[in-house]
Amino acid sequence: MSTASDSIGVIGTGYVGLVTAAGFAELGSEVWCVDIDAEKIERLRRGEVPIYEPGLAELLARNSERLHFSTDLADALEHARLLFVAVGTPPTYSGDADLSAVHAVVGAIPASDEHALVMKSTVPCGTGASLQRVFAESGKDGLGYVSCPEFLKEGSAVKDFLHPDRVVVGDEGGWAGDAVAELYAPLKAPLVRTDVASAEMVKLASNAFLATKISFINEIANVCEETGADVVEVARGMGLDDRIGAKFLQAGIGFGGSCFPKDVDALKQLAGNSGYHFQLLTAVIEVNDLQKRRVIGKLQRHLGSLAGKRIALLGLAFKPNTDDMREASSLVLSARLQADGAVVSAYDPIAEEQARKLVSGITFAASPLQALADADAAVLVTEWSELVELDWVGVAEAMSGNLLIDGRNALDPAAVRAAGLIYEGIGRR
Ligand code: UGA
Repeated sequence: MSTASDSIGVIGTGYVGLVTAAGFAELGSEVWCVDIDAEKIERLRRGEVPIYEPGLAELLARNSERLHFSTDLADALEHARLLFVAVGTPPTYSGDADLSAVHAVVGAIPASDEHALVMKSTVPCGTGASLQRVFAESGKDGLGYVSCPEFLKEGSAVKDFLHPDRVVVGDEGGWAGDAVAELYAPLKAPLVRTDVASAEMVKLASNAFLATKISFINEIANVCEETGADVVEVARGMGLDDRIGAKFLQAGIGFGGSCFPKDVDALKQLAGNSGYHFQLLTAVIEVNDLQKRRVIGKLQRHLGSLAGKRIALLGLAFKPNTDDMREASSLVLSARLQADGAVVSAYDPIAEEQARKLVSGITFAASPLQALADADAAVLVTEWSELVELDWVGVAEAMSGNLLIDGRNALDPAAVRAAGLIYEGIGRR
């Protein structure tokens, strides 16, 4: 077997797994990717990329000789000592994380002094300790364990992997933590070496803090609407303070995706399970839920009853540059609009296929103008550049009404108004 770092295994070929695999292959490692989904592995072997992520297809193609795909864990175990675990940890009905895929991996790994699991999946704080207890109880105490949370963002995942703000490596001693740190060394990112529980908490706390920042600015936006201030100006003024920072102060119709809603809830539940009521996170979640629904109020203020009104949704994905529809604000919006009797059409440049699996009763248009044809109002849901750069005069001509709600504060109000449309942002004058 090769040294600990020149050959690695990656278990799970979702966003995190594939980007991690392609990234380490780019840094020179042989990478053995394993997934239980045989069809996905076949597609990857053929050079197809099952998800939309800018730059990923190129990275996989460029490093195809170093990337190996299999449904058999034994292939990874034979060639690699470090096994990066990047399986899904979706929320359960209780809001706790579902760790069944993680447990399936742990169950499938044989006893070994040669191998270590490197946890990339987002797991509750305490998971590493309980997995190490499982190792001990099942005679696998030779297995190493490292928590190495992932901070990449969908849509810029490849860039985030290659230029991380920091790398966090949590372990309790042994060879594996050093080997993981060595793997990341070429990226020259600040390294946080710590214990397993703290590494797990860094991940949950980071996502919860970012989500808090978004809910905070959304509440400021709502107050701006009552007081005549403009949240874009307010965020600009706040963000120049180094202690606050300008990022994640974009008010809008709320955060979505596979991470923030799940991780904020999981941290709240984790605290609750340990006897602590995390009040702040309860508010962060509630503000986010209400924020999506405030768009309905704005539409009603201009149009009266929405029954029979034609509403165009511009964008469906939870954010631009991804086809991910998980917890997208468009899901709540389209359902609420239909419940109020509106006729909904929608356009998304990439996410339509995923959206069709989750949204029913709406018309999927092949272009923005097709979605906007005869619409009484339009809502910018996802700030794809194609949508932000629309010709607003053409939009005004296509619509039968003249209301445009900018759910992401991504448009130039003056340009929209100059085209004869009514512009309504989130917390903007
Ligand atoms: C998020 C984190 O940003 C990553 O660091 C983390 O690794 C990832 O979760 C994860 O845990 O896997 P991601 O969900 O891909 O990444 O997307 P973000 O770019 O963070 O956006 C999340 C949501 O917040 C989107 O719906 C976006 O529209 C919204 N958002 C973001 C705002 O409403 N306002 C902002 O200022 C920023």
